[in-house]
Amino acid sequence: MVTPSEISKQVEELRQELDRHNHLYYVLDQPEISDADYDRLFAELKQLEQKYPELQSPDSPTRRVGAEPLESFTQVRHPLPMLSLANARNEQELEDWHNRVDKLIVDAGLKSESAAFVVEPKIDGLAISLIYENGSLVRGSTRGNGEIGEDITANLRTIHAIPLTLRLEAGEEPPAVVEVRGEVYLPLAAFQRYNQERAAVGEPTFANPRNAAAGSVRQLDPRIAARRPLSIWCYQVGYTEGLELNSHSQALDWLIAHGFKINPLIERYEDFTEVIEACRAWEQRRAEVDYDIDGAVVKVDSYAMHNTLGVVGRDPRWAVAYKFAPSTAVTHLLTIGVNVGRTGALNPYAVMEPVEVGGVTVSQATLHNEDDIRRKDIREGDWVVIQRAGDVIPQVVGPVIQKRTGSEREFRLPDICPSCGSHTVRPEGEVVVRCPNRSCPSQIVESIKHFVSKGAMDIEGVGERLVENLYKLGLLRNLADIYALKENDLVGLEVSHSVNKQGKRLPQRLQETSVANIFKALQDSRERLFHRVLFALGIRHVGSINAQLLAGHFRNIDELMAASPEEISAVDGIGPVIAEAVRDYFAEAHNLETVKRLREAGLQFEVVADEEETPKPLAGKTFVLTGTMASLGRAEAKEKIEALGGKVSGSVGKGTDFLVAGENPGSKLRKAEELGKKILSEADFLSLVSRVR
Ligand code: IVH
Repeated sequence: MVTPSEISKQVEELRQELDRHNHLYYVLDQPEISDADYDRLFAELKQLEQKYPELQSPDSPTRRVGAEPLESFTQVRHPLPMLSLANARNEQELEDWHNRVDKLIVDAGLKSESAAFVVEPKIDGLAISLIYENGSLVRGSTRGNGEIGEDITANLRTIHAIPLTLRLEAGEEPPAVVEVRGEVYLPLAAFQRYNQERAAVGEPTFANPRNAAAGSVRQLDPRIAARRPLSIWCYQVGYTEGLELNSHSQALDWLIAHGFKINPLIERYEDFTEVIEACRAWEQRRAEVDYDIDGAVVKVDSYAMHNTLGVVGRDPRWAVAYKFAPSTAVTHLLTIGVNVGRTGALNPYAVMEPVEVGGVTVSQATLHNEDDIRRKDIREGDWVVIQRAGDVIPQVVGPVIQKRTGSEREFRLPDICPSCGSHTVRPEGEVVVRCPNRSCPSQIVESIKHFVSKGAMDIEGVGERLVENLYKLGLLRNLADIYALKENDLVGLEVSHSVNKQGKRLPQRLQETSVANIFKALQDSRERLFHRVLFALGIRHVGSINAQLLAGHFRNIDELMAASPEEISAVDGIGPVIAEAVRDYFAEAHNLETVKRLREAGLQFEVVADEEETPKPLAGKTFVLTGTMASLGRAEAKEKIEALGGKVSGSVGKGTDFLVAGENPGSKLRKAEELGKKILSEADFLSLVSRVR
């Protein structure tokens, strides 16, 4: 049977549309449609491809889900060696590198003046190479030893920020071959979540996001890589046929235009003092961004100069890595404390002598679980190595054995719950010790904190302190009690206190306006989609991804409650452990009662057929806030922008659309002016957000 041409046209259009939204979402971070709409287009394409198998294509967006597992990886030779970088450990060494570069260029008679440079973040991930032939991704591989790497195409295809085909202009011919290089990484928040999940099921945790990313792309089963939210920053064009480029900045522009994810903060400079400033700026920015960076890379822009400068050993002379101060430190571990989490797990944490790591003072660090402590042989009283990666919670890497005196104490989790005094249990085969008491105060308080948190119901204004106080007052004993609160319960409630110079305690109380805001936030939370509600319930092992899988399959809570563990684990991506946990949750009468009350409170317990989002007039616009505004705080301004679909970024760059300047604006104002960005006063901003409403 021949497929009617209008069907193949429709398939082609759907693919282009999905590719476009994929690019908007994963590469530009500026989605235009809701996830639900994307899913609908995706399902439509999948159906057509199933019905007309002859239309299937390896480049289709439906092929990102993860192919069958491999026996082993094959080795591949890189068309050009993947080089490494010489280091500059301080600004002096950076200057020295610059002087050598200038001299070599002048000696070669290439140019009497000095070179231009590009400054990039040095991403701490896994270097990979992607080969596109006639516009299609045909191979992706690891760096390996620089000459030969491993073919990990199947895993890399699951990374949405990697285009399966080059984005071409109408009528544009793709180059015969182009090799794109970049660094695959796991965003810090995902890394943290991932480690928590591993610790909860007793699997060893990863020491840092790089190991987690490397472990994910070197999985023989691509379906595992598909479930990890990996991303990529591309930073180089390697081998090409049919594509002539003259400089690195031109290569980056080519990459952006053809759909690759290039860090928007990368810039080109002609003046080396600006290069040094840019390196400093990256060191500052390090704690703010959602990926690990361990330095800044400075590259000479002109390719003609690259050829003149050449390579020494494995390091090109045209690039250098300016390394940041290490984000590890050594300190004294005083004691090991224990928290009780929302599922009753006893979580050990290290209490340490305060120490500065990567620019932040640290005095506490998570220790995951007892087995992890034993594996690393961490003892109370030890000197320990602390590591901090970006804004990830600091970790204890391990003890400094040489510093032991013999007085260090091995640690055991208590037999008694530190919160309620119940006897703790350690179920067979689990590494986690638990408090079995469902009414344990810590468990209740922690589960309410989870419920109101940003990723869950996102009830702004109900912070951790308020939850704790409301619990103490007996006003919150169950998740559903939140929706039974009365304004009178809250007005005048002490939320925190400060101490004045005379040592007098000054309580801070909730005012009527904040209470009104809390009630508005509670009202807004009734609109949260079903999968968020499901996640917020705090069912063991049901993180946000699993909640989405379950909601997408069962569509409403009744179907999910009625499902057997077998039916639940039949959902793609859900295993028997999760299925069992879901069953256990709904087997408890008090959980059923909570669900019933939340339902009565008006929360969403089913997938809304048409999950149309509210209009987003600021979609695609990036704002930067600086200075103080008289009528509203940062968080409020951010909320307004986000509610209208806009984004708020911490620094001014190419991608900035508006700078909102309050009183006493900082250097961001100057930067925005330099870049010719639109600057809004407080009044302009207020009128903008009220107008687009
Ligand atoms: S350029 C000269 N640019 O650093 C060619 N590398 O130590 C070397 N890396 O193996 C690559 N961010 O994995 C380059 N913006 C960036 C980078 C970067 C991270 C890694 C890459 C490479 C290693 C070299």
